[in-house]
Amino acid sequence: MSKNVKNSDTGEILDLQSRHIPCPKSQQEFAIDVLLGLSHTHKWLPCKYIYDERGSLLFEQIMACPEYYLTDCEMEILKTYKKEIIAKIGKGKINLVELGAGSGEKTKILLQEMITDNIDVTFIPIDISSSAIRNFTTNLKKQLPGIKIKGLVSEYFKGIRWLSNLNCCTNVILFLGSNIGNFEPAGANVFLSSLWNACNDGDYLVTGFDLKKDIQLLLNAYNDSGGVTAEFNLNLLRRINNELGGDFDLKEFQYYSTFDAISGAMQSYLISRKKQYVVIDEINRMFSFKSWESIHTESSYKFLVDDIEKLASRNGFEIIEHFFDSKNYFMDSLWQVRKE
Ligand SMILES: C[S@@+](CC[C@H](N)C(=O)[O-])C[C@H]1O[C@@H](n2cnc3c(N)ncnc32)[C@H](O)[C@@H]1O
Repeated sequence: MSKNVKNSDTGEILDLQSRHIPCPKSQQEFAIDVLLGLSHTHKWLPCKYIYDERGSLLFEQIMACPEYYLTDCEMEILKTYKKEIIAKIGKGKINLVELGAGSGEKTKILLQEMITDNIDVTFIPIDISSSAIRNFTTNLKKQLPGIKIKGLVSEYFKGIRWLSNLNCCTNVILFLGSNIGNFEPAGANVFLSSLWNACNDGDYLVTGFDLKKDIQLLLNAYNDSGGVTAEFNLNLLRRINNELGGDFDLKEFQYYSTFDAISGAMQSYLISRKKQYVVIDEINRMFSFKSWESIHTESSYKFLVDDIEKLASRNGFEIIEHFFDSKNYFMDSLWQVRKE
C-alpha cells in the first residue's frame, strides 16, 4: 500500500510502516527481530509478525471458532454497557483511537451508538496490518456512511508517539481483545506509561482483559479443533519464507499451546519435529533446530481484577468502572488519565 493515501476527512490512511521505500524500515526491523529471536538460546519470534494479510484473515477465523470465547464475551460487554460507557466519557467532541483494531467488529457497536447519540467523533484505527486497516476503513465507510475516519498503519509505539499530537478534544483510546495480554508484564507497564505520556489529562482508556478461569477453557480456546490457531502461528514461518527468503518446511513444525500456571499465561510455540537446518537468505544465516526444540511465538497473559487495578494505578490511570460479561470470563475496564 502507498503511504499517505487521500486527504479527505472520511478516507485518509497514513502508513507509518512503509515510509522508507524502497527499503522499508519495517522490513529491516522484521529481519533484525528474526535474527535476534532465532539466535537466542530459547528461540522466539514476536507475535506481531503473524499479522500480514493472511494472518489478519486467520485471526478473523479464530474469532469465529466456537472455542474462542473472548470475542463473544467482549461483544456481549459492549452491547450491554455501550450506553453506560458513553455516558461516563461524556458527549463532547472526541477522537476515538483504537490500537490493534483488527477487523473492528466490536468497535462498530460503540461507534454506531456514538453516531446515534450525535456525538462528534473522529475514529482513528491503528494497526500494524495494512490489510486490516484497509478492509476495516472500507467496510466502515459503507456501514456507517459519513463517519470521520483516519486509518493509521503503524506499530503500537509509533502510533502512540503520533497520537501525542492529538490535543484538540478528548481522546478515548480503545485497546480491545486482550491485546494487552500479549505483552510480558514489564512490557505492559512500558506500554501503559507511554500511552499515559502521550495522552492529556482527562483522556480515557478502555482496555479488554481476559480473566483467569478454568484451565480447560483456556486450553480449548488456543487449541481449536479446526486447527486455525495452528495455521495462524505457522503464518510467522510462512512470512519469513515469503519476505525474508527463508526455507522453513512448515510440515516439520508442530503448534503447541499450554497454560503456564506460574506466569499465568497461555504460552504458544512452534516445535521442530526433527533435527533440521533452516536458511534465511535476507539475513544470510542458517539456524539449526534440534528434534523437539521450540520457538516461542506468543504469550497471552490472563488477569485477576487485582492485577488489573495495580496496572492502572502504577501507570497514572484512575479506574472509572469495570464491565464484565455474564460468565465473568472477560472484562473491559474504563480508566481515565490523571496528570494533576
Ligand atoms: C488479537 S488481534 C485483536 C484485534 C481486535 N482488537 C479485536 O479485539 O478483535 C490483535 C490485533 O493487533 C494488531 N497488532 C498486533 N501487534 C501489534 C503491534 N505491535 N502494533 C500494532 N498492531 C498490532 C494485529 O494486527 C491485530 O489486528
